[in-house]
Amino acid sequence: MKLEVIGQNELEGEIRISGAKNSALPAMAASLLTDEILLKNIPIVEDIKSMTLLIKGLGGEITIDEKNNLIRLNNKKLSSLEAPYEYVKKMRASILVLGPLLTRYGEVRVAYPGGCKIGARPVDLHIENLRRMGAEIRVEHGTIIAKVKRRLKGTRLNFEKVSVTGTENILMAAVLAEGETVIENAAKEPEVTDLANLLIKMGAKIEGAGTDIIKVKGVKKLHPVEYSIIPDRIETGTYLIIGSLIAKNLRISNVIPEHVRSIILKLNEAGVFPKEGSDYYMVRRSEKINPVDIETQPFPGFPTDMQAQFMVLLTQAEGRSIIRDTIFPGRFHHVDELLRLGANIKKLGNGEVSVMGKTELSGAEVLATDLRASASLVIAALIANGKTIIHDIYHLERGYEKLAEKLKKVGGNINKTE
Ligand code: UD1
Repeated sequence: MKLEVIGQNELEGEIRISGAKNSALPAMAASLLTDEILLKNIPIVEDIKSMTLLIKGLGGEITIDEKNNLIRLNNKKLSSLEAPYEYVKKMRASILVLGPLLTRYGEVRVAYPGGCKIGARPVDLHIENLRRMGAEIRVEHGTIIAKVKRRLKGTRLNFEKVSVTGTENILMAAVLAEGETVIENAAKEPEVTDLANLLIKMGAKIEGAGTDIIKVKGVKKLHPVEYSIIPDRIETGTYLIIGSLIAKNLRISNVIPEHVRSIILKLNEAGVFPKEGSDYYMVRRSEKINPVDIETQPFPGFPTDMQAQFMVLLTQAEGRSIIRDTIFPGRFHHVDELLRLGANIKKLGNGEVSVMGKTELSGAEVLATDLRASASLVIAALIANGKTIIHDIYHLERGYEKLAEKLKKVGGNINKTE
């Protein structure tokens, strides 16, 4: 599948933000901690379908109501405790079933996630912390085999490096562990807090989610719930950038401004001032964009998941900007593709690139390499002169719900073809 975009159409209207993919995935994994869950505001994207297949493979019963963005998961009768490589290779977030299955059933096997396009992404910290909780874990022939004799034991844990899915895995393991678990240097991302809120609704005892230290008092059992997922802050940020570049007036609705603060601050520095409402933004094209330097950091810092999209904005800034990705220093595959459209970007090594602006972009054929890189290509195509064809849009569909439809509705000339 590919996307054909004819650039430079001015956008106007409203785009409604979908539920957060990175919240929905751990929420689905958390369903394994109880018998039944109804999740609302689920984005119907490929990663969610992959997680559905994985949980169905374990014996879970899942019904998806695509029209209403609902997923009901019933995990009363699991028949397997293994996440095979065919799922894990497609989506690294499959590792999220490790904590819940181990803590509830005492054993689990998950294929070891390999490298991926955005660089080596180890899970050593997930494993190390589960071991400290009493799990016996070995990695054999590329499979993580974890067991625990009775229950996992709460203890004091520390993440040497902030890890989002690492914190989530340990949090899910700790809610059914014996005694108190203290997670130090926990990730503070809104998706971690959303997971904690879901678990609390299920009956878990958690304090401190959204801060560096999360405390969990284990309980014996969790109960079924209904829960609505938060809006996607990365999708919000992506449309904010599109609006800053090519909108006459774009209303971006169903957002939580608190979650995109670092993105707004960088936009302000660049001379873009979206109008903020309680749950929406109004944004329009800025005549002049200033160069800004960006360094990705864990939340509340500037997200690595927005680096590629912001780079396109900076190709339109007057002067030189430096972007440094401290989380995934190899996450620059989009650079080669943006060069095809005429951008002036140089890789400096050590996770740094320099972007020189302002450059006119013009349509070309490009390849989507990973999820956020693909989003940056769509943004570039929307502002480029002429036609851009983006190949391999599978990556885009992993995480952006109805992207082409949403953009078409506000006047974008964008079509999906075989
Ligand atoms: C999550 C997000 C992803 C985002 C990333 C960083 C989901 C499903 N995915 O990925 O979109 O880009 O956070 O915000 O939520 N690390 C280790 N050892 C570990 C775990 C991580 O060294 O055991 C390192 C990683 O290589 C990376 C850093 O820690 O440099 C952060 O990675 P992490 O937060 O774990 O990313 P994910 O949770 O995989």
